[in-house]
Amino acid sequence: MSLRTGTLTHPRRAQRALYATAAAIAAGTLLLAGQAGATGTGLKTLAEAKGIYFGTALTQSNLSNSALTAVASGQFDMVTPGNEMKWDTTEPSNGTYNFSPGDQIVSYAQANGMRVRGHNLVWHSQLPSWVSSLPTTQVQAAMESHITTEATHYKGKVYSWDVVNEPFNDDGTLRQDAFYAAMGNGYIADALKTAHAADPNAKLYLNDYNIEGQNAKSDAMYNLVKSLKAAGVPIDGIGLESHFVLGQVPSTMKANMQRFTALGVNVAVTELDDRIQLPASSANLAQQATDFTTVVDDCLAVSGCVGVSQWGVGDADSWIPGFFSGYGAATMYDANYQPKPAYNAVVTALGGSTSSPSASVSASASASPSASPSPSPSVTGVASSCKVADVVNAWNTGLTENITITNTGSGTVNGWTLGFTLSAGQTITSAWSATITPTSGQVTATNLSYNGTLTPGAATTIGFQANHTGDAAAPASFTLNGKTCSAG
Ligand code: XIL
Repeated sequence: MSLRTGTLTHPRRAQRALYATAAAIAAGTLLLAGQAGATGTGLKTLAEAKGIYFGTALTQSNLSNSALTAVASGQFDMVTPGNEMKWDTTEPSNGTYNFSPGDQIVSYAQANGMRVRGHNLVWHSQLPSWVSSLPTTQVQAAMESHITTEATHYKGKVYSWDVVNEPFNDDGTLRQDAFYAAMGNGYIADALKTAHAADPNAKLYLNDYNIEGQNAKSDAMYNLVKSLKAAGVPIDGIGLESHFVLGQVPSTMKANMQRFTALGVNVAVTELDDRIQLPASSANLAQQATDFTTVVDDCLAVSGCVGVSQWGVGDADSWIPGFFSGYGAATMYDANYQPKPAYNAVVTALGGSTSSPSASVSASASASPSASPSPSPSVTGVASSCKVADVVNAWNTGLTENITITNTGSGTVNGWTLGFTLSAGQTITSAWSATITPTSGQVTATNLSYNGTLTPGAATTIGFQANHTGDAAAPASFTLNGKTCSAG
């Protein structure tokens, strides 16, 4: 069953049934694997079971960071190109198009069973100067050509388009950008109609920030949607960017989303992050967990809220430090792709469970970008006992598996190998937080330099992605330094 290809035309309630099936398949895989004690699963699987998606932004350079992509493909089912579909990249000079960076993001998404939010077609920012230098009489034609060419190029490959990005000022007036100057407020309807003509199946969004709660700006967006609907202009959704400051998620967010969906459009949280004044304290991280919970709870409570996307995978990838001086730590993953309290909070909000209040969820991918494989174990250090929890997230032809190894013995393990046998037909395509060889059959995972030492009670999570030919079951048993581990 292919669930994530193609454009979903169902309202969220229909999606919920579809996704619940996907989650049941994944859960069935877990049962088949017979692994007791699996305590968590990826965000996307949990989100799909609730009828929503969970996405992330990815840039072209992100794609060569294997620690990052391991998390991206294991946790998220929707991708927004961070910059690669913006006008300055796609049409840097009049009539000259470059879709190669965006195509790479789309290929990555397709290879990993993820959908794509196209971002964006018309925006005052990252707009090449040739557009704003055009005589006003030529702007409409340039805008329409740009939309038609880009939306046609990506036709059938994007779930949605942010057709117009950030049209409003904070006081609710429209920005006086090149498009407004040339066409007045009619440019928005014109852009939507042009996008619809090029790709009738893509969901068409207007996307903005500071419209998450009820205020002058969201009132203006509300009135715009109302008038567009009344005029029969194609519009499917409103994107709430959700670049929050710690502790400032608006209390009116749910009610605000509800008033939009009452107009007959969907809503989505499109660029979620929650910035903290650095250095971040543990109290800050706890508040951030609360903030993320509020956002996910609000989306789940509104039937027309189709999904939540975080802006970037981890703190190392976030735009925040570069744009908001002194702020950072805005995502669910730290700079080493270890899950933060916000990640565990989102798992819980989505109905999953975490292994312990502060420990990472066993489904979380983790890796150190700078880690390199260490030589074979330096000390025999046979663990007197160990336990292994593993979580498989499978789709029709592939799977990701996260394996949490815990030293339950009283001695420290200095360097380890984990032995296990892959089910027939499974071939590993990438691994994280360990080196795994060979790629099929009986394999050995060897620690990297940063996770080779396991003090008593310590745990580490490794994982891999694999293709399969129908049998997505997890390995029946694991050995750590030759000794069989219990499940759990
Ligand atoms: C940001 C990107 O993340 C940065 O890399 C780039 O330099 C500036 O734009 N609202 C949007 C996004 O709609 O496109 C912006 O992305 C963040 C704010």
